[in-house]
Amino acid sequence: MSARLIKGPEVAAKIRQGIVDELKGLTAKTGKVPGLAVIIVGENPASQTYVRNKERTSKKLGFHSEVHRLPENVTQEELLEMVNRLNMDDDIHGILVQLPLPKHIEEEPVIHAILPEKDVDGFHPVNVGNLLIGAESYIPCTPHGVIKMLEHIDYDLKGKNATVVGRSNIVGKPVAILLLERHATVTVCHSRTQNLAEVCRRADLLVVAVGRPEMIKGDWIKPGAVVIDVGINPVDGKLVGDVEFETASKVAGYISPVPGGVGPMTITMLMVNTLQSFKKKYKLV
Ligand code: GUN
Repeated sequence: MSARLIKGPEVAAKIRQGIVDELKGLTAKTGKVPGLAVIIVGENPASQTYVRNKERTSKKLGFHSEVHRLPENVTQEELLEMVNRLNMDDDIHGILVQLPLPKHIEEEPVIHAILPEKDVDGFHPVNVGNLLIGAESYIPCTPHGVIKMLEHIDYDLKGKNATVVGRSNIVGKPVAILLLERHATVTVCHSRTQNLAEVCRRADLLVVAVGRPEMIKGDWIKPGAVVIDVGINPVDGKLVGDVEFETASKVAGYISPVPGGVGPMTITMLMVNTLQSFKKKYKLV
């Protein structure tokens, strides 16, 4: 392996320590702590794990944490009622509805119901729109984490060819916007992209978020490129990324491994956004 590793757990630990240090002063001033409410519907095992981790991290950092577990058969109205209640709760600064939701519930009205100033996921159209025009907004957590990892290695994006593989609303699209904002020349690839390998080979920076195990091969990567692998795919009882690490790590300059890469950044940036909302409420920013 010649690539240097970008270790998410190290970057995340540094940011979390910064939160703990900052919070001491903020709590002394306000007598309050940031509050994060998570709503989870049903029994999706992956979602259960994510939500448990969010709760654990919130508590570890000294936040107030609430998890509202609703049954699979909850109605749209009941879920919206819960969101509205949390919107009005002064001790809650961030609200997150864990996705995906069961099929009988429409995702859009639920996301729209969260007050934009409590939308720490950055999924509300007001936040998405503000992100697009470069105004202040909550930045979706995984894309924000990717940027923090690039900052950690002092990567200067100006004028670089940055290729994003995947165009989801949660990762691909916001990552592309954030890279563009930082003056990269951005290409977004997806399932209909022709000659994907060739497009990838031109990238100085490759960010992959497609959810397909080891799809990106080492010989698709420009020697010395920076590779951020957002994929987390369970295969034969192990987790692998969207990039074939074995071959890619021989070619790339930097690579984020899976596990040990982007994973812990998402929750960490959720904490950053919740702290930001808390600071705004008490006019501490
Ligand atoms: N499901 C998978 N990732 C996410 C996320 O970042 N936020 C929410 N709300 N649900 C998710």
